Amino acid sequence: MVARRPLGYSAAHIALHWIIAALVIFQLVMGDLNKPAYRAFERGTVPAETDVFSAYIHVYVGISILLLAFVRLFLRWRNGAPAAPAGERAFQRWAASAAHFLLYVAIFAMPVSGMVAWFGGIGDAGEIHELAKPVIIIVVALHAAGALWQHFIARTDVLRRMLKPVF
Ligand code: HEM
Ligand code: HEM
Repeated sequence: MVARRPLGYSAAHIALHWIIAALVIFQLVMGDLNKPAYRAFERGTVPAETDVFSAYIHVYVGISILLLAFVRLFLRWRNGAPAAPAGERAFQRWAASAAHFLLYVAIFAMPVSGMVAWFGGIGDAGEIHELAKPVIIIVVALHAAGALWQHFIARTDVLRRMLKPVF
């Protein structure tokens, strides 16, 4: 199948990119929200009501990310994504695609591993979920740095096209 190459992203795709980015960053920064309740469940003790409440913030924000990720993947499959800027080196192109792929994996795998740990009580899934945290932080940082580099140094339209819809 030949990949579709629109000139930019749709308004819906752009909105989803920034909403999911904000929610993922919230989850990374506030990852400890559900730890006290989860630890209590692991020990077989009853967690405090406030701990259960804050745990559910993490759980529901995480599940929302998963649902939005499905819509986004559908839009990406239906509409395609714009081509890399002209003249970009093969290595840069590869690095950007690898980061995008890993970020897609993250927005599916994090909620799924979290749900397996939380609802299924499977500690190994919780371990994987925790170990992924630093990896995701590094990928997001490199991805954001790449976007800023494109805008301010290479002066391409890469950041603008994730801000201004073409359809
Ligand atoms: C957790 C946060 C983030 C995630 C999960 C994420 C994910 C992605 C993914 C998967 C793409 C590929 C296009 C697509 O299918 O949507 C993308 C594109 C893009 N992202 Fe992010 N992103 C995040 C944060 C950021 C931040 C903080 C910035 C800017 C500082 C940024 C700027 C961009 C830009 C400019 C593009 C367009 C690249 C292009 O068209 O070649 N992203 N992002
Ligand atoms: C994209 C979505 C998600 C992100 C980015 C995320 C991120 C995090 C982070 C950063 C931590 C703390 C790790 C640490 O400080 O060591 C954490 C812990 C945890 N999260 Fe998530 N989470 C997400 C979705 C979910 C969902 C949907 C659930 C459950 C339904 C969940 C359940 C858990 C559990 C049970 C822990 C504790 C694991 C343990 O201590 O072994 N997470 N999460």
